Amino acid sequence: MLLMMFPRIAYHPPAARAAWLRNKIASANHAYYVLDQPEIPDAEYDKFFKELEKIEANYPELMTPTSPTQRIGGAVAEGFSPVIHDVPMLSLNNGFEDGDVTAFDKRVSDVLRHNDIEYACELKFDGLAVSLRYEYGHFVRASTRGDGITGEDVTANVRTIRSVPLILSGDAVPRLIDIRGEVLMFKLDFEQLNKQQREAGQREFSNPRNAAAGSLRQLDSRISAKRPLSFFVYGIGILEGFPIPDTHSALLDWCASMGLPVSLDRAVVRGAASLLTFLRSINARRLSLPYDIDGVVYKVNRRDEQEKLGFVSRAPRFALAHKFPAQEALTQLLEIEVQVGRTGAITPVARLKPVFVGGVTITNATLHNAGEVLRKNILIGDIVIVRRAGDVIPEVIGALKEYRPADAKPFTMPTHCPVCSSAIEHQPDKAVARCIGGLICDAQRKRALWHFAQRQALNIDGIGKRIITQLVEQNLIHTPADLFNLAFTSLVKLSRFADKSAQKLIDSLVRARQTTLSRFIYALGIRHVGEGTAKTLAQHFGSLDALMGASEEMLLEVNDVGPVVAKAIHYFFLEPHNRMVIEKLRSAGVRWPEKPIALHKPARSLTGITVVLTGTLPTLSRKMAQEMLEAASIKVAASVSKKTNYVVAGAKAGKKLMRAEKLGISIVNEEGMRRLLESS
Ligand code: IVH
Repeated sequence: MLLMMFPRIAYHPPAARAAWLRNKIASANHAYYVLDQPEIPDAEYDKFFKELEKIEANYPELMTPTSPTQRIGGAVAEGFSPVIHDVPMLSLNNGFEDGDVTAFDKRVSDVLRHNDIEYACELKFDGLAVSLRYEYGHFVRASTRGDGITGEDVTANVRTIRSVPLILSGDAVPRLIDIRGEVLMFKLDFEQLNKQQREAGQREFSNPRNAAAGSLRQLDSRISAKRPLSFFVYGIGILEGFPIPDTHSALLDWCASMGLPVSLDRAVVRGAASLLTFLRSINARRLSLPYDIDGVVYKVNRRDEQEKLGFVSRAPRFALAHKFPAQEALTQLLEIEVQVGRTGAITPVARLKPVFVGGVTITNATLHNAGEVLRKNILIGDIVIVRRAGDVIPEVIGALKEYRPADAKPFTMPTHCPVCSSAIEHQPDKAVARCIGGLICDAQRKRALWHFAQRQALNIDGIGKRIITQLVEQNLIHTPADLFNLAFTSLVKLSRFADKSAQKLIDSLVRARQTTLSRFIYALGIRHVGEGTAKTLAQHFGSLDALMGASEEMLLEVNDVGPVVAKAIHYFFLEPHNRMVIEKLRSAGVRWPEKPIALHKPARSLTGITVVLTGTLPTLSRKMAQEMLEAASIKVAASVSKKTNYVVAGAKAGKKLMRAEKLGISIVNEEGMRRLLESS
């Protein structure tokens, strides 16, 4: 009877559920990766994702290529098939100086016969151009630019980019559209990736652009899926089944309304002067942008005007890329000298004929290591290409062999340290050669001391490279501990030191004695232990003795510490000389609060505590962790706020972790979470 009243329904309930889940996940992805405003807790997201995976496993016929579960990459491809672009992917004309911009505006005004041109200004992303094809709103293909006419099919790899929607949203979706834009890697993601590469003993990428290129052209899309790529739209190719908006800015707004990532750093302005204002405002923020740009792009905003202007050879006459001053230049390599670093690493340094690059004159550049000099086939006397990127040390990237002088000579690595004459050790499997002199080497000593005194370390105000050089050369200090025993009478004898400056330094040494555990750990200058790792170690161990006594296994339990770092820390503390320096520092009065971390304290009740989970925990699933916390009456919140007591962070923790650091909230790993639970 019941069956008669409710005949078999036409839709498949799992199909409906799968559709609902896909929608929910896509919307959460958009909120997180495109809008940067998470809308559901990570745990909820994981729950939906797992449920969808389960439905798809039970009903394989329900699987679709645009399901969010397909973002994890698939089979290894043998090569990339060619894709012929329906609308060629053109390039842009470049300008470098203000005059190039006024000339562009004049050319445009002359053709359009008015001089109040409306321009759309945007960023020139430093990544790789790709074209994304959507049919009936579904992502079906992605291709690289190639030669502009034919590119390569990188669909499997682009599908793994979380900010690329697999289904376009809204009602204004065309039958067919090619979205044009740039694939890039955010600076933070790039650093994280290089850190992972380093720890896994793999080659690091030289810049975010190379990392993005290498990741996009991976034959194994499962590897691409692990590479944190991003995407920004800057235009379209073919469009069918929908009217094209009247202006470029409206076109980008439309793209954003379909859920595509469009940068907010854009503007619509009038006249050449406003173009330059846009450039300057972006240039001022360039280093603080989360990704690299190499200039800005100006585009005539109105479509009808763009059409009137048309194209000249392979670039539109309606657009101009205004590039930042060249970061690369040619000059002569006069000599290669070697420099000894804090850990004894011997770096070949190029002495160059002075050259103006990206706004400054450079005379030195790094050549990284002897292997690189050989690999790049650089000889002393060569004309070389030097590059400056942001505020990093300039580097020599190659030589122009066609200009090689007859007397150019190869570089040979010295066998002994130029500073202390100790032997230089070349381990066959290591790129870096090292002076084995340790702290008997003045160069290493100076650098170690300078590192120790740095603002981020013990913050000894008034002590710089110049003073340290004098102190070391006059044999006044050997280890950092000696700094704290410096007498006023020795200081006043230093060149350019008066009573007042000597007293000031003594006062800042008194102040520097009171420090924090993380600063102290960082100041020790343990290889691979930067500020971030020092903080994590301090938080994890709570006391220096606990850290000094930790085994490699115990160190590996620390969030973000891999085998290479764990080994470096362990060996550092095994070294008797290092233990002795630490003891001397302690007896010289260097102090830091050594409270065991809060989690060690027995809490009477955990009710009222709020925890946020982020990243992938080593053994617990998100759901399991949440259940364990909730079972102990701990509230698990979706986002980090001032009310959060702890953030439990696992691998690949991102924005939540950064926010927690900013707010000074205690960050613990899975082990820390377990201890918290045990304390109840
Ligand atoms: S528009 C017809 N806009 O620059 C013009 N390109 O030199 C097509 N690029 O291959 C390009 N940011 O990879 C355009 N906001 C932007 C861009 C941009 C970066 C790259 C793109 C292109 C190259 C052209």
